[in-house]
Amino acid sequence: MTIPPARRRELLAAARQASDKAYAPYSGLRVGAALLSRAGDVFVGANVENASFGLTLCAERAAVAAAVAAGAREFVALAIAAHSPVPLSPCGACRQVLAEFGRDLLILSAGTKGRPRAWRLKDLLPQAFVFDRPRRRAR
Ligand code: THU
Repeated sequence: MTIPPARRRELLAAARQASDKAYAPYSGLRVGAALLSRAGDVFVGANVENASFGLTLCAERAAVAAAVAAGAREFVALAIAAHSPVPLSPCGACRQVLAEFGRDLLILSAGTKGRPRAWRLKDLLPQAFVFDRPRRRAR
């Protein structure tokens, strides 16, 4: 599905707004994400860090959780906005979580300088893990 430039800008603006709400006292890197559903709704997330660093939640997964809790499961685009000069590319864990809901997802990412980048999820994570329930064997 192609997303017109005006819609892309709107989605990036929503991600930017969410990034201002991020809780990132440890890394100092504030990130926002905005997920566009096939129905046209937008769900946002921000990174949430923790004193126990490994418990940190990325903005992208926060947006997925918000969307799923609201009943959305089909997505066409995800915008990421980081308070860093260079656009960030989503971490491996977030790629896998996003892949659960479709590999064609358009991912836009903006830093504070320069032009946003764009990828398709299938190009960022070509071999996503798929769970095939193993058949029970007699033991
Ligand atoms: N972070 C995200 O929110 N999304 C990413 O794709 C990469 C990293 C956050 C997690 C952590 O709070 C901070 O950026 C530094 O890693």
